[in-house]
Amino acid sequence: MKDIEPDITNRLELEFINRFGHSPDFIISAPGRVNLIGEHTDYNDGYVFPVAIDKYIHIVGSKRSDRQVHLHALDMDEEYTFSLDAPDNSETPAWSNYLKGVAHLLQTQVLNKIGHTLQGMSAVISGNVPIGAGLSSSAALSVASSLAFLGVCGLQIADTSINTKSRVSVIQPPPTELAALCQRTEHEFAGVNCGIMDPTISLLGKTDHALFLDCRSLEYRHVPLNLEDILLVICNTNVKRELASSEYNKRRAECERGVEIMQQWMPNITSLRDVTLEDFKKYEVELPQITQKRCRYVVEENTRVQTAVNALITKDISTFGTLMNESHAGLRDAYEVSCDELNVLTDIAQSIDRVIGARMTGAGFGGCTVNLIYQDAVETLRSRVMKEYTQRTGIEPDIYVCNVGDGARIKWISET
Ligand code: GLA
Repeated sequence: MKDIEPDITNRLELEFINRFGHSPDFIISAPGRVNLIGEHTDYNDGYVFPVAIDKYIHIVGSKRSDRQVHLHALDMDEEYTFSLDAPDNSETPAWSNYLKGVAHLLQTQVLNKIGHTLQGMSAVISGNVPIGAGLSSSAALSVASSLAFLGVCGLQIADTSINTKSRVSVIQPPPTELAALCQRTEHEFAGVNCGIMDPTISLLGKTDHALFLDCRSLEYRHVPLNLEDILLVICNTNVKRELASSEYNKRRAECERGVEIMQQWMPNITSLRDVTLEDFKKYEVELPQITQKRCRYVVEENTRVQTAVNALITKDISTFGTLMNESHAGLRDAYEVSCDELNVLTDIAQSIDRVIGARMTGAGFGGCTVNLIYQDAVETLRSRVMKEYTQRTGIEPDIYVCNVGDGARIKWISET
C-alpha cells in the first residue's frame, strides 16, 4: 500500500524528532470526507454515500513509559499534556477533548475487555483537512486518535496498516465499532450530536470507491467511482458552520417528532428510515407543517441515495447528477439547512453545461459544496466561482480538486 502524503509526514517525523529527541513509532493518517448524497439521513437510520478525500489529519507518535500524554498541535502551535490516570475536566483546547475522550472510551469500552491498559504517548498532530468546513476534520481527528492510542499499545485493527511491524497485534473491534466509539467521543467530549457517517468513512474509505452505508445495520458496500474524465471538486464558502448550534439538534428533534406522531398509524416504525414515500403521503397531512417538510425531505433523500447508487453502478452519471441537484433543492427548501453562500455556489455550478451535479455537503449553514464535473469544464467552474461568488458575497472561496482516497492508515516506523 502506498505511503500517504510522504512529503508532509516526513516533515512531521522530523518535527517529532526535534521535539522529543527520538524517532516516532508510527504515523497515523486519517482522511476527511465529502458526502456525495444522503444528507441528514445518518441520524435517521438511513443511507449515506460518502467518499474519503485526499486531505488528512496526521498523528506522529510513540509510546511513553509513563501514563502521560504529551501533545503538540503543530498548526495551532499549541501544546497540551494530560495524565491517563487523572481526568482533566478543566477547559482545555477544543482539539484536546477528542484525544482525552478517545483515550477514556478506548480504555473502558475496548481495552478492558481484552486485558490491555493504555500507555502514555508523545505525539505531534497536524493536518490539511480545512477546519469547520464540513469536511469532517473532527471525525478525522478522533479516528486518528483512536488508531494512535491503539498504536501505543502495539495494537491495530484489521486492514489499516501500510506496513506491518513485528510485535503488533491485530485486534477487534471491527471498524464500524471503532467508528461508533469516535462518534460517542464527539457526543460526550465535544458536545456535538453528530451521526455515524463521518468516522465510518474516515475509517472505511477506499481509493476510487464511494461507501454505500446503511446507518442502521452498519452494513456497507464499496461502489466503484471510476471518474475517468470526471472530477470531484469541492468549493468552500469559507463561511464557518455552526454544527454544534441549535439548528442541527432541532432537525434531529423534528424528525423524531414526526416518527412519534406517525407511530399512531404505523406502530412498527422506529425512525424515518422505516417510512416509505407511499406511506408518508398517506399520513403527512397529520403532521405539523414544519415537521412535515423536514420528514418529507428525509424520506425522499433516502430513496434518492438508493437510486443514485444504482445509477452509478449502471454508469448513468447524468441521473446521478440530477439526484445531487434534487438533494440540494430539498436541503435548501424543505430541510432548510442551506445558506445564501451555499446556494450561490450551487447556482453557479448548476448553470454550467458540463457540471453533472452540485449540492451542499455536510451539516449545512456554511461549509462546502460538492460538484461532479467533466474535466473540460473545471476551468470554467473555477473562474466563474472565483469571480461571481466573490462579487455576490464579498467572500473569497476556496476550490479543491480532490481524489478519492483510502481510509485511515497506520504506518509503523521500522524498528532498526
Ligand atoms: C454532519 C454530521 C453527520 C451528518 C451530516 C449531515 O456532518 O457529523 O453525522 O449528520 O452532518 O448529513
